Amino acid sequence: MKRRIKETIKKIPFVQDVLNLRNRTNKVPQNMNIEKENLMKAKIDYLEYQVSNLSSLVRLMIDDLKMENPYSRQTRDSFNFQWGNIPESRHLLSNEQFRREAPDNICLFTGLDRNWFAGKRVIDIGCGAGRYSWAMAKLGAEVTSADQSDKGLQEVQNACSEFPSHKTMKINLLEELPKELGQYDLVWSFGVLHHTGNTFGAFKKIVPLVKDGGYLFLMIYGEPRYDILTEYEEVNEYEFWRHKTRNMSMNETLEAIKTGMRNKQFRINGEEYVHGYFDAISPKINDLHRPEEIIGWFQQYGFKDIKIPLASRNIFIIGRRV
Ligand SMILES: C[S@@+](CC[C@H](N)C(=O)[O-])C[C@H]1O[C@@H](n2cnc3c(N)ncnc32)[C@H](O)[C@@H]1O
Repeated sequence: MKRRIKETIKKIPFVQDVLNLRNRTNKVPQNMNIEKENLMKAKIDYLEYQVSNLSSLVRLMIDDLKMENPYSRQTRDSFNFQWGNIPESRHLLSNEQFRREAPDNICLFTGLDRNWFAGKRVIDIGCGAGRYSWAMAKLGAEVTSADQSDKGLQEVQNACSEFPSHKTMKINLLEELPKELGQYDLVWSFGVLHHTGNTFGAFKKIVPLVKDGGYLFLMIYGEPRYDILTEYEEVNEYEFWRHKTRNMSMNETLEAIKTGMRNKQFRINGEEYVHGYFDAISPKINDLHRPEEIIGWFQQYGFKDIKIPLASRNIFIIGRRV
């Protein structure tokens, strides 16, 4: 009986209007929120494109300027400090698992076959402590390791002492490169050019080191991919700590990271990750790029068979010089 009365009341036109209105007003705020969220996302996407375009334009405009400045000096000093003071890491040769995986990772990053490396002339530009110089020598290549850091070069010399053909060379990518460097079957540079303050200028400096028919491989920091929101968290974490440690000495920054690790303040915690976080936080210059920008440089300088063998925020790119 009660149900029947309810149904009858619902049929009265005025009551229907009220019910419809209530349904609509219940839905409107929800729809509006989704609509608003989409518009805000479009706005953020637009701003991201603008920032990205402006950064790549600035990089093109400054490539011929001499880029020595307090930030580029601080960045190089930071790497010297890092190679001298944080010898162990999950991602360095001190770690057994890293050593086991590194040669295969070279093939994964470049898309080159294991057998390709035997007897090839390879240069590791910005070799740091030489983890990948070692891995490429292990694959049979004749490796030259080049970096601005004396401490890094000492480390790589020790790491590669088992390979008689291994050489080291001190270079600064912001200056003329030594003529005696010669040319190589593979010019490899992992995580380096975006720390120079002049990524495009440094790119242009190393192109002539590639033999005709040889390869150029780069790993360059990438901007977060706009549809992968966790990548924004990752980049923002670095920015947060860069700001927090902005006026600290390198020793103080290292201590702040160690304390943060003990208090589990990072997204990934553990002593073996202190080195990686110092590497990401302490240098003042860390330019982020988009793949299209780097692909454009490869094309402009006559590279063919340009490939990105690994899907990742960071840009793993290889091309053949013809
Ligand atoms: C993040 S580390 C990468 C080291 C190594 N490629 C690796 O993957 O372990 C960057 C390296 O680039 C070197 N570097 C930075 N700016 C440089 C410059 N202007 N000239 C030469 N090397 C530079 C630093 O000394 C440092 O060893």
